[in-house]
Amino acid sequence: MLSPNELQKLRVPVVAAPMFLVSGPELVVASAQAGIVGAFPTLNARTPEILDAWLLDMAYRIRGAQGTIAANLILHPSNPRRDIDLEMVIRHQVPWIITSVGSPAPVVERVRAYGGRVLADVATIRHARKAIDAGVDMLVLLTAGAGGNTGWLNPFAFIEEVRSFWSGPLAVAGGITTGRQVRAAQIAGADLAYVGTPFIATHESLAADEYKSALCGAGADDIVLTDAVTGIPANFLASSLRDNGIMNADGSLLPKGATDIASWKTAWSAGHGVGSVEAVCSVAQRVDAIASQWLAAGR
Ligand SMILES: Cc1cc2nc3c(=O)[nH]c(=O)nc-3n(C[C@H](O)[C@H](O)[C@H](O)COP(=O)(O)O)c2cc1C
Repeated sequence: MLSPNELQKLRVPVVAAPMFLVSGPELVVASAQAGIVGAFPTLNARTPEILDAWLLDMAYRIRGAQGTIAANLILHPSNPRRDIDLEMVIRHQVPWIITSVGSPAPVVERVRAYGGRVLADVATIRHARKAIDAGVDMLVLLTAGAGGNTGWLNPFAFIEEVRSFWSGPLAVAGGITTGRQVRAAQIAGADLAYVGTPFIATHESLAADEYKSALCGAGADDIVLTDAVTGIPANFLASSLRDNGIMNADGSLLPKGATDIASWKTAWSAGHGVGSVEAVCSVAQRVDAIASQWLAAGR
């Protein structure tokens, strides 16, 4: 299991969360260099060969960094890259592996064997228990208001219930944008904050400039939860749903899964915390701000 010492090495207990079509090597490396964990979905590398090159490059560039890197694997059998990407991250001995949409059981021993850590993201108590049974090192609780395929549980309730049966490391995701909130998550019982939306609006992210500026102009009321884009409930900027014909002028939405995953390119996802993301900046600046707010919020 991840020891408190490993977490204390971080400048501030934050993971720049993995985001489809957003997190690439620049964002990941800048995060690790800024002293946090930089995470990315392996599928952002368009081919296994590109993933291989990314992992080599990232490992070289983060040598001596205060932070570290995490690769996110989608474990659902429908992911045609599942096995090959798993072999690749094991071969490169990626320090942290985050599993999504599927049991982490087949991954745990193999990653542990080289000293890696396995995190599993979960949105229900049932899945939290299953991930613990599979032997993961840390749980990531996806809560209501998170960007991407969101959770739905209230974070206070979710953390509290999981804490009644799990004393190991815990990260919480959903709407966290400031150091004060990172501190609040710790007080509520988490060890680490998983932060997505604010890192979309960084120079290093792969997001289009229009996406970044739409995000900086939006507030929580501009976020719409819908399963129309991928069939799974996810949070999106209302303006991008309108622009793609997914949401009508009267606010009505297309039916479940009416589009497909390619729509993530033009339907822009963001979490409820979008209102405090006001400008595009570098990852270093974003982490500086979070770290100083976190320090100011006291231990
Ligand atoms: C554009 C976008 C894409 C995402 N893609 C993934 C993904 O591929 N894998 C994953 O585990 N989570 C994904 N997420 C969820 C994030 O990892 C994280 O849980 C979420 O952003 C946290 O909520 P926040 O955005 O309110 O900080 C995505 C989120 C966004 C905004």
